[in-house]
Amino acid sequence: MSASEEQPKRDDLFANPLGNVPRFVFDKAVVDVFPDMIQRSVPGYQTIINLCGELAARFVQPNSNCYDLGCSLGASSFAMQREIAQPGVRIIAVDNSAAMLERCQLLLKSTVSDVPVELLEADICDIEISNASLVVMNFTLQFIAVEKRQALLEKIYAGLNPGGCLVISEKLLFEPEPLNTLLSELHHQFKRAQGYSDLEISQKRDSIENVLIPETLDAHIQRIKACGFNSASPWFQCFNFASLVAVK
Ligand SMILES: C[S@@+](CC[C@H](N)C(=O)[O-])C[C@H]1O[C@@H](n2cnc3c(N)ncnc32)[C@H](O)[C@@H]1O
Repeated sequence: MSASEEQPKRDDLFANPLGNVPRFVFDKAVVDVFPDMIQRSVPGYQTIINLCGELAARFVQPNSNCYDLGCSLGASSFAMQREIAQPGVRIIAVDNSAAMLERCQLLLKSTVSDVPVELLEADICDIEISNASLVVMNFTLQFIAVEKRQALLEKIYAGLNPGGCLVISEKLLFEPEPLNTLLSELHHQFKRAQGYSDLEISQKRDSIENVLIPETLDAHIQRIKACGFNSASPWFQCFNFASLVAVK
């Protein structure tokens, strides 16, 4: 059975009491359950992935590059790949988790397309971005140190062709604190409805705290504009998750 035909394993990584909850990492154990984990943890995940395909159809220019930054198992890359009709386009899918890329490579083998996807094991802060018509960063900026985010976005802006598009999807922070608490609780209610127990929700929260650093929608929009984009807007939001689009 190929990797793409396997039933995704159910995420039970936090189902049993762990004592000292370890810091969240994108290792082999996470890779094994990742499709189930992200679908049941991020409201609107599939809608956001599908939109990457629609934006690819709209924005990708002939003989240009598309980037999937923090590609994990390549869901955004595959959505773009399906919709790209322009000639001479390649998708560069970047992740710094070897375990993610190893599985992504297996999934890539079972896709049939004229659009090549090149996997690159690297820190997205260190790579070159050039001749880009679409850059997608789905739920990855939140794992980059806050002080490095401006330089990363400046590099993306510089590497985008005029008319090129940037998509950033993130977990958000809200102010004041009671509003943040409300939206977090609504998210936890979503996770409960997806079958996660209170123990799983609280252990995952402890594990990912200080690893995933959310910012406010305002902070994202101000940074995107400070990097040169004239406009940026959320096109999707559900509870404390949003996806923004900006065009150069
Ligand atoms: C939540 S997942 C992204 C999900 C994926 N974009 C999708 O839509 O299915 C975050 C990914 O970013 C990767 N990552 C985190 N920091 C990174 C960095 N500095 N450079 C490259 N990849 C990074 C992680 O290994 C992980 O695979």
